[in-house]
Amino acid sequence: MSNILVANNIGKSYWQGGKRLRVLDKVSMKVSKGGILFIVGPSGAGKSTLLHIIGGIDKPDEGEVIINGLNYQKLGDKRKSKLINSDIGFVFQFFYLLPEFTAAENIMLPALIRGESRERSRKKALNLLRDFGLEKRVYHKPFQLSGGEQQRVAIARALVNEPDIVFADEPTGNLDKETGAEIIHLIRKLSFENRQTFVIATHDYNLVSEGDSIVKLIDGRLEEKGNAGIYLKGD
Ligand SMILES: Nc1ncnc2c1ncn2[C@@H]1O[C@H](COP(=O)(O)OP(=O)(O)OP(=O)(O)O)[C@@H](O)[C@H]1O
Ligand SMILES: [Mg+2]
Repeated sequence: MSNILVANNIGKSYWQGGKRLRVLDKVSMKVSKGGILFIVGPSGAGKSTLLHIIGGIDKPDEGEVIINGLNYQKLGDKRKSKLINSDIGFVFQFFYLLPEFTAAENIMLPALIRGESRERSRKKALNLLRDFGLEKRVYHKPFQLSGGEQQRVAIARALVNEPDIVFADEPTGNLDKETGAEIIHLIRKLSFENRQTFVIATHDYNLVSEGDSIVKLIDGRLEEKGNAGIYLKGD
């Protein structure tokens, strides 16, 4: 199966109080098209940092990331932004919805940036709001939404341009068990029906099913990798 994402020897450090904090140490992974890869690990392990780097939002100190055969680090900023807008969806751990805009407008925005008409963008946003059970929240601004509703709007926004690959940082972190399971069900459906690929950072092992790929980060090091079935039996 072809790999949509390949990351080789990713390294990243931050400077904190004059000291170097090594957050990622030689992390490598491959994700096949249409698959779901979970990045699991405890708080502070480096999951968000890794997701930001492989999702093209942050730069690694070392290593390379190849998506759809393209090395994003080597592209010019303009070309990179365009590809990120159309090929990649990103769901942030803390949502980053625009506070002045309604739920529908937040979801429409990436489509408008891509050059879609207002009408078409709005229609897509309304369909997604319906899929996520938010048809009664179209005109709500983020501060008028619950945490779980904001999370679903953030996921819908990541899906509006039908990207090949979606990176989601703790996409069920603010949801009750039932709503979380519904979101994962929808993600599985999208990966199966549209061959969209999902990379999900989470500390919730319960989201992982046999057949998913999984990488386990401990203190920025890849502890294990392989097929979920192997880990689930041991856990
Ligand atoms: N911009 C930054 N500057 C300095 N240190 C940072 C920065 N971002 C992250 N770190 C540090 O890197 C480490 C990994 O952070 P990261 O957010 O990737 O962890 P995580 O696995 O996503 O944790 P959580 O499960 O709590 O979301 C943490 O110890 C954090 O303090
Ligand atoms: Mg995180």
